[in-house]
Amino acid sequence: MSGELQGAEPLVLLGAGKMGGAMLDGWLERGLDPRQVRVIDPHLDAARASELRSRGVLVASSDGDPAGSLPAKVLVLAVKPQTMAEALPAAAPLAGRQTIVISVAAGIRLSTLEAGFAPGQPVVRAMPNTPAQIGQGMTVAVPNAHVARGQRDLVDRLLAAVGAVAWADDEALIDAVTAVSGSGPAYVFLLAECLAEAGRQAGLPADLAAQLARQTVAGSGALLGGSALPPDELRRAVTSPNGTTAAALAVLMAEDGLQPLLTRAVAAARKRSIELG
Ligand SMILES: NC(=O)c1ccc[n+]([C@@H]2O[C@H](COP(=O)([O-])OP(=O)(O)OC[C@H]3O[C@@H](n4cnc5c(N)ncnc54)[C@H](OP(=O)(O)O)[C@@H]3O)[C@@H](O)[C@H]2O)c1
Repeated sequence: MSGELQGAEPLVLLGAGKMGGAMLDGWLERGLDPRQVRVIDPHLDAARASELRSRGVLVASSDGDPAGSLPAKVLVLAVKPQTMAEALPAAAPLAGRQTIVISVAAGIRLSTLEAGFAPGQPVVRAMPNTPAQIGQGMTVAVPNAHVARGQRDLVDRLLAAVGAVAWADDEALIDAVTAVSGSGPAYVFLLAECLAEAGRQAGLPADLAAQLARQTVAGSGALLGGSALPPDELRRAVTSPNGTTAAALAVLMAEDGLQPLLTRAVAAARKRSIELG
């Protein structure tokens, strides 16, 4: 039995792709007992399946051998949203009344998830992001009305295995969450692309411009992540009056600068999230 993740076993993971696989790695690193973990993913890469088996994880190629340690204490749904309708009927028999169901599927509502299980099933809808793959994710979780305090703490510890966790009680916030942290990594990657292109236009060789932009975004992200200071203070710390940074920031912080652009981008992502949901 694990320490940090005590009480999470037996755990069933349905869908062990990028996100499910990242969470699984985080849990196993934090001491989740592999013999109490069942992975169900009919399309799991053979090398990954045998690696997991060698660590003691029970890997089922279909919905699996129902014998043994069922019902699950925790059932994690990490299949693509478009596969959820097919996956839910297979998942339901794995859950008992006390099983806490966690879904990371974008756009799948709590009410849809609840309809797949018995009435009163505790369900948490979570929205992680891709830096979860290196343990640096940001996940926002929304519980349904049946999640008990202890179950919420357990889910918090599980999600914390791949990064920071915040809770929201209003499911409607998930669309804005998706627009900020869910899609956010793409905005940061675009920043690296645009900075490289701007460097190229300023006369740098393309390779050098790309290297400078990439390392500047990565290094600044690491600096921000490791600092207790808010970003505006870190920005001021590298801006001398009338210096080069101040000249650039006068453009970026103008009325038609980065803020209105990002505000519009986030609004567009939120609108699309509402449409897809
Ligand atoms: N990746 C992210 O950054 C991210 C961020 C936020 C939320 N999410 C959510 O995480 C979920 C998974 O995304 P992903 O990027 O990890 O996708 P993925 O890499 O495609 O992983 C999904 C896995 O589930 C398998 N699968 C399909 N049908 C199944 C079934 N009926 N039972 C069991 N397993 C099944 C898939 O196999 P096949 O590929 O052969 O179908 C695949 O291996 C999505 O709902 C997504 O919205 C992901």
